[in-house]
Amino acid sequence: MKIALTGIKPTGNLHIGNYFGAIKPALELSKKYAARYFIADYHALNSVKNPEELRRYILEVSAGWLAAGLNPETLLFYRQSSVPETFELATILAAFTPKGLMNRAHAYKAIVQTNIEKAEDPDAGVNMGLFTYPILMAADILLFDSDIVPVGRDQTQHVEMAADIAAAVNFNYKQDLLKIPQALVQESVAIVPGLDGRKMSKSYGNTIPLFVPEKQLRKLIMRITTNSQGVEEPKDPDSSQIFLLYKLFSSSEEQESLAASYRAGGMGWGEAKEELFRVVNRELSPLRERFDSLIADPEKIEEILSSGAEKARVIAKNTIKRLQEAIGLNFKKSSRG
Ligand code: ADP
Ligand code: TRP
Repeated sequence: MKIALTGIKPTGNLHIGNYFGAIKPALELSKKYAARYFIADYHALNSVKNPEELRRYILEVSAGWLAAGLNPETLLFYRQSSVPETFELATILAAFTPKGLMNRAHAYKAIVQTNIEKAEDPDAGVNMGLFTYPILMAADILLFDSDIVPVGRDQTQHVEMAADIAAAVNFNYKQDLLKIPQALVQESVAIVPGLDGRKMSKSYGNTIPLFVPEKQLRKLIMRITTNSQGVEEPKDPDSSQIFLLYKLFSSSEEQESLAASYRAGGMGWGEAKEELFRVVNRELSPLRERFDSLIADPEKIEEILSSGAEKARVIAKNTIKRLQEAIGLNFKKSSRG
């Protein structure tokens, strides 16, 4: 089986955009690949500097993936920080990474551009964690012989950089020491709209969190912005974000029926939102229950992650050993002949 690996940055609460855009497709993918999914906690440190907040995000994001159906028995699930070989590999990779490559990373370039526009020092607000982010990410990927890396479009450049760095290592030692990974962007995955109609994102503050209590979920759905069409007016389902969200949670019969009510007129936005709430709550209730019981037992989550890390380290140690021998750090003769 080919290997699929991805990192999950614990930098906020999961929302339904993450659910449909990342969690569901990744879990689907794990049926066809040997999946290795990890909580990228050291990556989160670049932006989350408050310990309580970081702890909470790590716990909640882990519980969230488990509640959504991640099975730690069949899928390798661990925390990046529990696999210290990652940081050994990052050090090795840094010796093969041209600084110019990092200068071209989108996230870094964007900050520099903004600084220049504001006539500030180009590197203002840039820490080395951000600058070398692609190296750490390459280590995450290359440590586990990943074939494919399912990511959002914004991350494809990072995966390409990992491939470039791996090729540079392989070229230098004239061996296929590191597997060349490929990004997998799932084109069919919909962009989930937020409460205000823009892409749902924590940076826009327009999210519907996955695990809010029922009452709050209803309140949030009632806040979705709509146009000023009156109750009696016929409405176009395809230009309505209520309907776009509805499609994610409903059967095709339900969709046809709601679309017909929209077109017929006589249904106000309030009623459409009630119907949306019903289907969202139907799907999320069982997840919320599992999430609540997991979050009430953080030690259990820690146990699941530790046991995953133990298995992950067996693979990781192998990769490091292979590299150390090739590099010349290891005096022992290779037992692999
Ligand atoms: P946010 O935009 O809220 O900060 P992240 O950047 O942390 O979300 O995204 C984590 C994952 O969830 C990525 O794979 C991203 O593509 C996916 N994702 C986030 N928001 C959406 C959305 N509105 N629709 C589809 N996928 C999304
Ligand atoms: N950079 C990714 C993000 O922001 C998270 C990540 C860290 C990752 N390491 C990775 C993704 C390795 C894929 C593979 O979403």
